[in-house]
Amino acid sequence: MNSPSWLADDLVRVEELLMETASASIYPLVQEASTHLIKAGGKRLRPALVLATSRSGEAGREETDLGAAAVELLHLASLYHDDVIDETLVRRGAPSVHSKWGNEVAILAGDFLFASGSLLGAQAGGDVPRILARALADVCEGQIAETERLGDPTRSASQYVETIRRKTAALFRASCELGATTSGADPTLHSRLADYGENLGLAFQMVDDLLDFVGDPKITGKTPGTDLKEGVFTLPVLIASQRDPAVAAQLEPGKRELGVVLPMLESTGALEATYEQAQHYIGLALDALSQLPDAEWRSVLITISEGVLAQVTPGAAA
Ligand code: IPE
Ligand code: IPE
Ligand code: MG
Ligand code: MG
Repeated sequence: MNSPSWLADDLVRVEELLMETASASIYPLVQEASTHLIKAGGKRLRPALVLATSRSGEAGREETDLGAAAVELLHLASLYHDDVIDETLVRRGAPSVHSKWGNEVAILAGDFLFASGSLLGAQAGGDVPRILARALADVCEGQIAETERLGDPTRSASQYVETIRRKTAALFRASCELGATTSGADPTLHSRLADYGENLGLAFQMVDDLLDFVGDPKITGKTPGTDLKEGVFTLPVLIASQRDPAVAAQLEPGKRELGVVLPMLESTGALEATYEQAQHYIGLALDALSQLPDAEWRSVLITISEGVLAQVTPGAAA
């Protein structure tokens, strides 16, 4: 289905709120650095989830817009810091903040965005600040857990899943909880929407991890092979090194060449296996939706989940 016009209209309001909030400083450098990646692009998936799930209750409340902008600002802030950690030069098809202004500005502008998102959350009130704070704590825990296992191809698939449940799925879950709580949706819907968000987030990170190998930088706006170079061994690599002991030798620092490792991921079937895992979690996300009312917003959530998988064609992952 095409996206309904209410979603496009709601996203325009949230975009204005994002720009207004990120430019709320008397210092031009703060304004410039904080709005840089908002202007560069991005999918706005988390705000779309807040807005779509809010249709399970009363539409159009200001608290929902505040929650949608807040969660995107928290996500954005995490990208500012993530690019420092991953030493990434390109984000959203533009120079990353640290490559343009240095690590100090990237870290502080990221902190400014975290604080600005939290302010919007406080303005929304109710359960919003708690949901945001909980998710943010999860993101940090997930990122630390990942850092602890850098360069280790023996990390198990279940450890990988528990890490991405925190670093990525927590914010997807929070987005759906925000939509439900700010719209006053029937409490029986909350946990199903949260389950949908969490499983969608798990699949989303698996697909993102595939895109690091097979993605087109013109579409992803990111440099392929970054995870591999940094020693962030994601599910495709973990599966491949389990299936073929020769893979580990190519994962030593100084090696980690995309042109060498990618054929190994293909020949071991690790790309397909990862894609199948992503499909599995999309299946769980859809199961959670199946018990919800058959409404247009539910179709939007189904379309979003299909869109996550459609970023990689099974052919490209095969
Ligand atoms: C990037 O998220 C970080 C991950 C969790 C993989 P997105 O792919 O949603 O990034 P933008 O917002 O579209 O740039
Ligand atoms: C990072 O995951 C998720 C965050 C919490 C920011 P990635 O490192 O895979 O995100 P990208 O690929 O840089 O967007
Ligand atoms: Mg990264
Ligand atoms: Mg990635």
